[in-house]
Formats: sequence, C-alpha cells, structure tokens
Amino acid sequence: MKALVLSGGKGTRLRPLTYSGAKQLVPLANKPVLFYVLEDIVAAGITDIGLVVGDTADQIQEAVGSGERFGARVTYIRQDSPAGLAHAVKIAREYLGPDRFVMYLGDNFIEAGIREYVQDFAASTACASILLHDVPNPQQFGVAELREGRVVHLEEKPAQPRSRLALVGIYLFDPTIHTAVESIRPSGRGELEITDAISWLVDRGHDVQARVVEGWWIDTGKMEDMLDANRLVLERLGPANEGSVSDDSVLQGTVIIRAGATVTHSRLRGPLIIGENATIEESYIGPFSAIGSGCTIRGSEIEHSIIMENTVIEHVPHRIEDSLIGRDVEIRRGGVQPRTYRLMLGDHSRLEVL
Ligand code: TTP
Repeated sequence: MKALVLSGGKGTRLRPLTYSGAKQLVPLANKPVLFYVLEDIVAAGITDIGLVVGDTADQIQEAVGSGERFGARVTYIRQDSPAGLAHAVKIAREYLGPDRFVMYLGDNFIEAGIREYVQDFAASTACASILLHDVPNPQQFGVAELREGRVVHLEEKPAQPRSRLALVGIYLFDPTIHTAVESIRPSGRGELEITDAISWLVDRGHDVQARVVEGWWIDTGKMEDMLDANRLVLERLGPANEGSVSDDSVLQGTVIIRAGATVTHSRLRGPLIIGENATIEESYIGPFSAIGSGCTIRGSEIEHSIIMENTVIEHVPHRIEDSLIGRDVEIRRGGVQPRTYRLMLGDHSRLEVL
C-alpha cells in the first residue's frame, strides 16, 4: 500500500500564522503536526508516501526532505491551487497507479494510530474504508450514516445530521476512487469534495466500510484545536532534562527540557516542554505549554500556550494563557510613560488586552 498525505490547502483559519508558514508545520510539543502523521504511516508499515504540496512546498520540502529520517521514501506532488481533497487524489493518479492507499490529511491525527485500519483494509475486498469519530456537534463535519458497518449515506455539514459520526481526515481507498473523482463536479464552494467522491461510490453500490475511531482525534485547523492537540500530545510524553536548571528553580509534573536550554529562578509546572537553547528566567511556565527552541522568557508567566521558535517575552505584567504565538515574535513591557499599548500586528492577528 501507498500513502497520500495532503499538505497543501489555504489554512485561512490559522491566519496570520499561515501567511508565513505551512499549517502542517505548526508544532505540537515542539514537533510539526505533519511529522506525527508521517511517523504514524511508517509505523503502519507504509514507506512509499506521496506528499501533496501547494504554496508552502519549499518549507515542507525543507522540513521533510527525502523522508529518509522517517524511514520513508517521499514523492512530492505539486497542487497548483487548493481545489479540494478529491482534486489532490486526481493529481496523484500517476503516483498512486493501481495501488490501494491511505489518504491522510497532514493536519489530522488519531490517538491509537492507523496501523490496525491499514492492516484490515489491506486484507479486505472493500473498495473504501472511512474512519469516523463520535462528536457532539456533527453539524460542523461530514457525517456518515451506517447500516451493518457499511456506509449508506454521507452528507457535508448537515443541518439535521442522521448520526453523530463525523468523518476523520483519514481514508482508505482502492483504485475505484479514481473513477469517482473523475466523475464528480466541483461543489458550491468550487472544490472537488472527497465526500462527493465517496458518495459516488456508495450510490453505485460499492462496498464502502466504516470504522469508528476510539480515543482522541485531532484536526488542527483552528487555534483552539492546536492548543487542545498540544495538550493531548504533551500528556503522553515522559519527563526528560537535557538542559540546565538552577538550584532555586522548581520543577513539578512532567517537564521536558531540551539540550542547551537554561532555566533560572523559575517555576515550571508540567506537562510542558522547553525547546533547545531556550532561556527561561524568573518566570512561571504552567501546564500544557510548549516553548520553542531559542525562545527567551524573562519575568513572565505562560500557561496552556504554544510559543514558536526564537520568540522573546519579557516582563509582561499579566499571565499569557491560551495563546498561539509564532516565530521571532517580541512581546515586552514598554519602559517609558505614558503607559500605552504599542503594537505591530500582522493582518488577521488577534489580541485580547486587559
Ligand atoms: P482544510 O483544513 O479542509 O482546508 P485548508 O487547509 O484550505 O484550511 P482552511 O479551511 O482554514 O482555509 O484542509 C485539510 C488538509 O488538506 C490540510 O492539511 C490542507 C490539505 N489540502 C490540500 O492539500 N489540498 C487542498 O486542495 C485542500 C482543500 C486541502
């Protein structure tokens, strides 16, 4: 089997971060979401991976390279515009050839991994298998109706959902999907939708199986999802201290400190991670925080936040919480009167002040 990983897209919901970077490279516990996806695929025994890339192709290529360090061989497939998930399958036709494959959205992943689903699909004669997750708000997702384990109906964001089973961004297909994507037309939003392609299979009586995923499922499309995902990933890591911590600092819970990082006169309450060569001074870093490599946090308090590489936060008088802060950002208390906010924020930035 092969894998097709989707790492293009617009990423509008994660602006302004996606103006300068691929959303699949936003880190969870200091590791890009996409890397968890690639590791999961390799752990399932698939090493031939097609990576669909768009405008951020250069960055993704720089981060992933040949795939060797994941134990995989990565083939890059360029998508000229984010014309939909089924469009990504269409342009990957030559790469996929006659093989069965798992299609995995580069910003999704599931707690238990895909291994079991891949093995079952490889051994079955079904033409597709979709993964579903029981959600409290099915109106916001693609929703499936099942009968005896088979999919009988699919609907995108239904006003009156027929079940609570939302489509997870992981799909298993045999080559019949290529006929389906060639047969469907763009949706109202102008995209070739994968739900339409799967519905095409269902409506023609093809065997489309479904599996309900236990444990968590993460779709990191929005900031709140990123913070949730960061929390879930941090929760399953063990402690490690490769940096240096002063005697007057206090570490509680699971704290990971990477090489070259220094912590002085601070309180760190895990689960949290401090990246390589970061400096933490006279600060409090609270649960579910990921501080990127090269960051400086001085005289400040941070909790439940993702702070990306080389950002500087100094002497901020109130705790920073539930925040997603990009690379090379500077936040400091201004030293001079009058006490005003002085801001330089990119388009679509969000700031809540006291
Ligand atoms: P989405 O999150 O559905 O779309 P998006 O990335 O354009 O984001 P937004 O809705 O915030 O504008 O995409 C799911 C995944 O699939 C994501 O990793 C990007 C990828 N993708 C492609 O590679 N090609 C595409 O044409 C589309 C629509 C998405």
